[in-house]
Amino acid sequence: MASLRDHQEIASLLKQLNERVNSLQDQHVEADRVAAVKAARDLMVALDTPQEALMKLVYAPTHALCVRIAIDLDLFKTLAEKDGPVTLEELAAVKNADPVLVGRVLRVLTGIGYVTEHDERAFKANKMTKHMTGRFAIATSQFIWDGMPALASIPEFLEKTKFKNPSGAANGPFQYAEKIDVAIWDYLPNHPDKLDHCSTFMEGDRGSRPSWLEWFPVKEQVIDGFNKEEGDVLLVDVAGGRGHDIGAFHKAFPDAPGRLVVEDLPHVVDDIQNLDPAVERVKINMFEGQPIKGARTYYMKFILHDWSDSESRSILTHIASAMKRGYSKFIIEEFILADKDCALLPAMWDWEMMVFCNSMERTAKQWSELLESVGMKVVKFWYPPGDGQGIIEAELKDDDEPVQNGAT
Ligand SMILES: C[S@@+](CC[C@H](N)C(=O)[O-])C[C@H]1O[C@@H](n2cnc3c(N)ncnc32)[C@H](O)[C@@H]1O
Repeated sequence: MASLRDHQEIASLLKQLNERVNSLQDQHVEADRVAAVKAARDLMVALDTPQEALMKLVYAPTHALCVRIAIDLDLFKTLAEKDGPVTLEELAAVKNADPVLVGRVLRVLTGIGYVTEHDERAFKANKMTKHMTGRFAIATSQFIWDGMPALASIPEFLEKTKFKNPSGAANGPFQYAEKIDVAIWDYLPNHPDKLDHCSTFMEGDRGSRPSWLEWFPVKEQVIDGFNKEEGDVLLVDVAGGRGHDIGAFHKAFPDAPGRLVVEDLPHVVDDIQNLDPAVERVKINMFEGQPIKGARTYYMKFILHDWSDSESRSILTHIASAMKRGYSKFIIEEFILADKDCALLPAMWDWEMMVFCNSMERTAKQWSELLESVGMKVVKFWYPPGDGQGIIEAELKDDDEPVQNGAT
């Protein structure tokens, strides 16, 4: 039975939620959407008893599990393709699966709102069902599931490593669980399915969070300063995967002057399928050098969070020595963890970084220290609308500014 205090708390949270939803409906602002979701989550916490909240938390992996199995059973695809109810028997027949097993999966999927229950043993597609037929959504479920053995091994791994904050790409939970001694980027080429899950996940991992191209002043901070006399490359997307981000840049600014270049490991560059021919492709190992010198902008998204500070320094030293002082910019698109009231999404992402790369997300102070240590300085931290990645705008320090931590 809820106490008077609980009632007061619930009433206050309902009021907050109402205000946020009204504001979202009026202004369609991402920050209001994120705040409304947080208010709704706080309300759920207040409504649940602690005992029930804990049961739901520890059983939550079954949600991701049933979504993962539903992909293999083509449940989302079958429901989305049929414009109306589908029986349990019809759904099971697609992969000749046992209807009892499929019914067990569907009970969880209807419970979490990924499928609509039309009637007893009959189901219909909804917004989430349709979303789960997209290749990015499928790869997200597959790739994150590929990390589950590593995630499950983390408590044992931390115990063995005496609860030190782990770092080092070749000796983390992923290596511990998979019994390997190489970084994930050296492991994936020998596991083509997982490599495909990974690369497709990367293409879609921005989700619906607004792209930097929508809220960062790209024209003023990047394009306007381009000067062909200084260098003819406008933007290099370092370790840009299949080139989705630089492709989006070209689409948003088709008339921007200068060359556009995407760089990545040879097997990733060879796997690029849909990229505007205006974007040049260069095969690199970013630990060995930066072949494009004096570009106006070096851009990196979701790269440095894959690596420890010392590994990041090796990468950054090559970028810094390719940059032209007073002209080149370094644009990092990554989470900037808040020192207080950190949003849950980047906090969870931080743990997934430990799962796959034995690395971490960083606060503004950690970003500044890392960049300072290689002779760069932060010009400005740009915070995103909502809970997505920010932009860390950096450049080389002036000649007479001291370099910290022994950078080359
Ligand atoms: C987390 S993904 C990010 C890809 C892309 N920037 C994005 O945000 O979608 C990391 C990328 O780093 C690339 N990578 C890993 N090691 C590399 C290396 N030594 N040299 C160049 N690229 C590397 C991977 O192939 C992968 O495309």
